[in-house]
Amino acid sequence: MREELESLSGTRWAGRKLIHFRETDSTNEQAKKSALSGEVHGTLVTADCQSAGKGRRGRSWESPAGSNLYFTLVLKPEFAPEYAPMLTIVMAHAAAEAMRRETGLDCRIKWPNDIVVNGKKVCGILTEMDVLDGKIRYVVIGVGVNVEKQEFPEELAEKATSLEAQLGNGHVCKKALLVQILSCFEKEYEIFAKDLDLRYLKESYENILIGKNERVRVLDPQGEYEGISRGITGTGELLVERDDGQTETVYAGEVSVRGLYGYVR
Ligand code: BTN
Repeated sequence: MREELESLSGTRWAGRKLIHFRETDSTNEQAKKSALSGEVHGTLVTADCQSAGKGRRGRSWESPAGSNLYFTLVLKPEFAPEYAPMLTIVMAHAAAEAMRRETGLDCRIKWPNDIVVNGKKVCGILTEMDVLDGKIRYVVIGVGVNVEKQEFPEELAEKATSLEAQLGNGHVCKKALLVQILSCFEKEYEIFAKDLDLRYLKESYENILIGKNERVRVLDPQGEYEGISRGITGTGELLVERDDGQTETVYAGEVSVRGLYGYVR
């Protein structure tokens, strides 16, 4: 993996340092350790399989050997911690664009950062950060992409799919896809880090955002409501126009947004 990745890589810093495991608990956990032990900005941690892959909200991430991409990028930004959550949106956009290019599939984003093909999830992103004395020590962005055809556990079968399952007979080269994602992310990160807002990608993100100008249900622990999704703000929140005309700003985190008929629609 290492040699092939180096020979494919057209990036300046993203993935130039590679730490690869045949098996590990979680590339996010290994990336955090690497970050604290002094590894540089852009260090990439990859694994062929994970024994304790982590998803968002304390869920686990199915990580069988060989079929998928599991990787985490270590970042050491100079900017203030409040900007870091926007990096998840940057990665979602970069990963979706890279997957569209590499597979030709209509990969779309389910706000804020799931990547979905034909209504089923192919990719998830988990960003974690450590802050000390008001400064970022590291941000790690972990990405899992379902690549090969596979049997999903029963509870996921309805909402998960893989790129090759969606392609039918086509093949996806994992390394080429990884390099494409890193290369897209590196370009976008550099733009983002200059202005520290997401206006540069708003139009492109919204072009592939599921449910824009459609009715959605916001699962807010304070109370669920419905409205029309109006896209994202310059800082990545979702705008939802309620029936009384009032526009809510929805923050990622504990809030989920659904289509009216299930995971996506
Ligand atoms: C989600 O719940 O949608 C986020 C899933 C993130 C999974 C990836 S796989 C590589 C990295 N290591 C982990 O333990 N999780 C992330």
